[in-house]
Amino acid sequence: MGTRHQISLKVCFSDPLLDGMNILNEVVLDFPEAISFAPGRPMERFFDLDRSLEGLGAFVAKESMQNGKTEDHVKRVLGQYGRTNGFIAKQISELLRQDEDISAPHESIVITVGAQEAMAILMLGLFEPGKDILLTSNPTYIGITGLARILGIKVVGVTSDESGIVPLSLVEAIQVASEAGRVRALYDIPDFNNPLGSYLPLERRKEILEICKRNEVFLIEDNPYGMFLYEGKKLPTLKSLDSHGTVIYIGSFSKTIFPSLRVGFLVADQIVSNENHFLAQELSKIKSLLTVNTSGLSQAIVAGILIEERGSLKSLIQPQLEQLRRNRDALLSSLSIAFEDLVPTVSWNRPVGGFFLTLTIPFTFGIEEMYFVAKKYGVIACPMSLFTIGSGCETQIRLAFSYLDPSQIENGVRALASYVRDRLPIIARR
Ligand SMILES: Cc1ncc(COP(=O)(O)O)c(C=O)c1O
Repeated sequence: MGTRHQISLKVCFSDPLLDGMNILNEVVLDFPEAISFAPGRPMERFFDLDRSLEGLGAFVAKESMQNGKTEDHVKRVLGQYGRTNGFIAKQISELLRQDEDISAPHESIVITVGAQEAMAILMLGLFEPGKDILLTSNPTYIGITGLARILGIKVVGVTSDESGIVPLSLVEAIQVASEAGRVRALYDIPDFNNPLGSYLPLERRKEILEICKRNEVFLIEDNPYGMFLYEGKKLPTLKSLDSHGTVIYIGSFSKTIFPSLRVGFLVADQIVSNENHFLAQELSKIKSLLTVNTSGLSQAIVAGILIEERGSLKSLIQPQLEQLRRNRDALLSSLSIAFEDLVPTVSWNRPVGGFFLTLTIPFTFGIEEMYFVAKKYGVIACPMSLFTIGSGCETQIRLAFSYLDPSQIENGVRALASYVRDRLPIIARR
C-alpha cells in the first residue's frame, strides 16, 4: 500500500466472532464445486417473485379501497419515507394471532429491516454498554453475539444441551454475571435453534420464563424457524406463555417469504414507566436513527401476501416445509448408513423442524479442518466452535440441510464420513 497512512481499528475487529459470517461465505465461494452444509439459507426455488408482485398489487388495491384514495396515490406514498415503526403492524398482529397464538397489540410492533435490525435496536435501546450484560444460549447465532461485541456489550454464554438452554445453568449464570453488572436480557432461539437444531421442551420454556421474570431479565425470543415443524406437537412460543411482559419477540420473513425483502419485526409490549405506552414506541427513536424506516415496497409485498393468504403463512410455506422434511430425512438416513459402525463415537441429534442438525465426532473440527475437508473431500461443514462464546463444542459440526437436495445430502455425508474414517486411525494411534 506504499506510503499511505495506516489506520488502526477498534479492537472488536480482531475478534474471531466478527469473522464468522465472512468465513462461511468465503469458503463457499472458494470451493464452488463442494457440497456445502454451511449456509442456513432457504432454497431459491421457493421464492415466488411474480406472486410477491401480485401481493403488492393486492395491497395497493385494498389500501385504495379502504382509504378512498386512488391506486396511483397509494403507490406514490409507498415511494416516500414512511412511518418509522412501519405500516403493516395490524397484519403482523393478525399473523401472530393465527400462526403463533400470540396476542400482540399492533402498537407494540416495530417492523424492522430483517430480524437483524430488531436485534440491533434492542441492543442499542436496552443496554448501557460497560454496565449491562447479555446472556445467550451457548453456542448461539453470531448475528447477536457479533453485534454485542461491536457495541461493547458483555456477553455471557449459558450452557445448552441437545434440548437447548439448561435452566439450572441459567440460574447460575445470572448469579455469577450479576456480580459483574446488570443482567439485562437473555437471548434464545427455542424453536429449531441455529446452530443446534434443538427444540426447547415445554417444561424448560416455563422454567426459563419464570427464572427471567423472577430476576427481572428480559427474554429475547428470536423465532425465524418456528413455522418449520416437521412432526409432533407445536410447542407454545415463550411470548405466548408470557403474561408478565418478560419476553420481547423477534420474527422474520426471510425464511417464510424470501430474505432479500429484508423484513422482520419485533414485539415489545412492555409498558414504559411514566410514559404509559409500549416499549415499541420508545424504540422507534432508535430505529429512526438507524434505518429511518423499513422499505415501504417490501412491507407492502409482505402485507399483500398476508391479505391473499388470509392472515396466515401456513399454507404458503407448505412446499418448502415438505422439502425440508425430505432433506432432514435424507440427512438422517445418510448419517445412519455412513456412520453405522461408528455409533456412538459419532453421534447426531434428530431435529423435528428447522434448517440445522448437530453432528458430534471424536476429534476437534475447527476452521483449518473445514478448509481441509472442503479441498480434499469436496464437502463443506461448519465447525460449531464458530458459534461458541469462549471455548467448547470443538468436536461438533453444524450441518445446514436447507439449501441442498437429498442426493447432494447423501453424497455430502458420504464424503464427510470418508474424512472421519481417514482421521480415526490417526487418532487411535495417538
Ligand atoms: C437465529 C436467526 N436469527 C435471525 C436471522 C436473520 O434474519 P433476517 O434475515 O431477518 O435478518 C437468522 C438468519 O440466518 C437466524 O438464523
